Amino acid sequence: MSIFDIDPDIARASTLSAEFYTDERYFAESRDKIFARSWQLAARASEVDNLAPATVLESFLDEPVLFARENESLHCLANVCTHRGKLLVEENCRAGGIRCGYHGRRFALDGRFLSMPEFDGVQDFPSEADNLPKIPAAALGDLLFVSVAPRASFEEVFAPVVERLAWVDWSSLKFSAARSRDYFVDAHWALYCENYLEGFHIPFVHQSLNAVVDYDSYTTETFRFASLQTGRAKSGDDAFDFDESVAALYFFVFPNLMLNFYPWGLSVNVVKPLRKDLTKVSYLTYVADESKLDRGAGADLGRVEYEDQRVVEAVQKGINSRFYDRGRYSPSREQGTHHFHRLIAEFMK
Ligand code: FES
Ligand SMILES: [Fe+2]
Repeated sequence: MSIFDIDPDIARASTLSAEFYTDERYFAESRDKIFARSWQLAARASEVDNLAPATVLESFLDEPVLFARENESLHCLANVCTHRGKLLVEENCRAGGIRCGYHGRRFALDGRFLSMPEFDGVQDFPSEADNLPKIPAAALGDLLFVSVAPRASFEEVFAPVVERLAWVDWSSLKFSAARSRDYFVDAHWALYCENYLEGFHIPFVHQSLNAVVDYDSYTTETFRFASLQTGRAKSGDDAFDFDESVAALYFFVFPNLMLNFYPWGLSVNVVKPLRKDLTKVSYLTYVADESKLDRGAGADLGRVEYEDQRVVEAVQKGINSRFYDRGRYSPSREQGTHHFHRLIAEFMK
């Protein structure tokens, strides 16, 4: 049996083998099999004025891309010259076109090859291969996503997010650099995600969160490439205006994106693999209503993060044990984790 056989029936299934987290080979393979084929947050739309370089998943995928805004259209291009491969744009700037700083090759803002000095007599030139490759990109509010080699379209992957969040006024969400930060976790990226995907541990790990979220009515729904956990409020004071019972909506988009909606706004978490036992988690904070910031399920996220980090790091140590390989799932509390393991298996096969 392959380690990527996860029974579709949660009552029969065993969890993903510890080998997935401990074997360097799977970590390396996940780069192209999982991450290159998924949608990754690459920039904030408000940061892109005219020409803006970005790196897709720095230190892991390391794919250099370029956003080029031209009137109403936003292009995403490979940020690599088609001549000898120099990076084209190295910092945010304004220009009507792109010129390579190595030998002067020029491109239009949509990536079309325009001109090249000293190339008279070159056969079959220019050709399609001299244009900058276009990279699939899409926006969700201020969040710009790209996919190097999408396994599914942005529309398909994000359909449940768009549908279930139709009430969100994206323009009211203001990015706060002061409230955004990175955390470094000594654990495999997937361990961080699968912890996020179940509310099962809330009463054991998060005392303060448990005091405001009603554990019994906590729900998990799964979609093709995403899942949604809904935390219900113990008190109406800590709930959303659109639904008095909801304290928090936790959307997960495979493989590493968390969109956490609270009555005060949105906390975006991006889980970035660095090594098989080291992960950077970037928290981007968007505030819509400052007055609700320190209330309910969305209060003191730094503390909740710290509690999660400690427990995930303890799992990282545990899965290295010679006495652990796989476990079983709670059918009522670990649907999100089971769904996540199934997607890993599907992408890795
Ligand atoms: S590498 Fe860009 S013009 Fe030579
Ligand atoms: Fe947690």
